[in-house]
Amino acid sequence: MKSVFFSRFFILLPWVLIVIIMIDIDSKRTIWTPIGVPRSRAQLAARKAGLGGPKNHSALPVIYAITPTYTRPVQKAELTRLAHAFRQVPQFHWIVVEDSTVRTDLVSRFLAQCGVPYTHLHVFTPRRFKRAGMPRATEQRNLALGWLRQHRTRRDAGVVFFADDDNTYSLELFQEMRSTRGVSVWPVGFVGGRAYERPIVSGGRVVGWYTGWRPDRTFATDMAGFSVNLQVILANPRAQFKRRGSQPGMQESDFLKQITKVTELEPKANNCTRVLVWHTRTEKPHLGNETKHPKDTVLIEV
Ligand SMILES: *[C@@H]1O[C@H](CO)[C@@H](O)[C@H](O)[C@H]1NC(C)=O
Ligand SMILES: *[C@@H]1O[C@H](CO)[C@@H](O)[C@H](O)[C@H]1NC(C)=O
Ligand SMILES: *[C@@H]1O[C@H](CO)[C@@H](O)[C@H](O)[C@H]1NC(C)=O
Repeated sequence: MKSVFFSRFFILLPWVLIVIIMIDIDSKRTIWTPIGVPRSRAQLAARKAGLGGPKNHSALPVIYAITPTYTRPVQKAELTRLAHAFRQVPQFHWIVVEDSTVRTDLVSRFLAQCGVPYTHLHVFTPRRFKRAGMPRATEQRNLALGWLRQHRTRRDAGVVFFADDDNTYSLELFQEMRSTRGVSVWPVGFVGGRAYERPIVSGGRVVGWYTGWRPDRTFATDMAGFSVNLQVILANPRAQFKRRGSQPGMQESDFLKQITKVTELEPKANNCTRVLVWHTRTEKPHLGNETKHPKDTVLIEV
């Protein structure tokens, strides 16, 4: 009797152990996805492009994203969306320029905890320029360019990008722009009255523009559709966004004319066939029932 029991026991024991080990391995797999060991081709590609995983990024050129911003109900929500993307980009420096006479508390507090290296500037747009039909954020972008010229030198490797706060950014966009030697360009979604605008590329060169608005522009691109090597900004100390003589929507083209030629543009995003940034804009919230002095018992920042 005893020997039958023992023989059954020893036959079953290894199977029980195998099942236990399998369950254990399986739970480890789902809970502990090993960090640092890329598992899929997508992860390998991301690793190669400098996303995710521990890596020495200090050799990468720094991406300087210039974001003009102004006080409005959705400001903090917009900046939050941007920070979620920017925080994941290595070697990134966010230059936030408020249209304000001071650095506001809301933006100061937001930046201090946003997890992105930043510089916080402010300049107030003169009232006479705050009219419909006037280009916006001119003074703010120019102040940021001035800051770069003052605080960066020939020895600093970088790429400058104008990251308005009403857009949505794919992380891949930053991988693409990182290699900008002069000025690079790519498609932008939801601009010019079309699903997208894009540079038309032939033989690896920009030969024209697919756009629904003012195709006569020399550079028919949106503010979010190009980046500039930091050294080009430093080598052209007078290049800036123009108020005088620049119609709304022409600022990009007027600025790029000062620093490059269409034939020199570097097409990114698979020869300008992929949309990696969208002019999404946030819907204006309905605040018709908001009172001038909110009757809530506490003061809440939105
Ligand atoms: C990272 O690389 C830079 C230059 O490529 C080097 O100076 C630095 O020491 C490296 N840092 C680490 C932690 O390996
Ligand atoms: C872009 O087009 C050029 C010329 O046709 C080609 O050599 C190059 O590989 C293309 N680049 C990409 C990323 O597809
Ligand atoms: C504001 O309040 C009125 C009355 O309660 C309501 O009918 C209306 O839908 C509210 N407006 C919004 C935008 O919620």
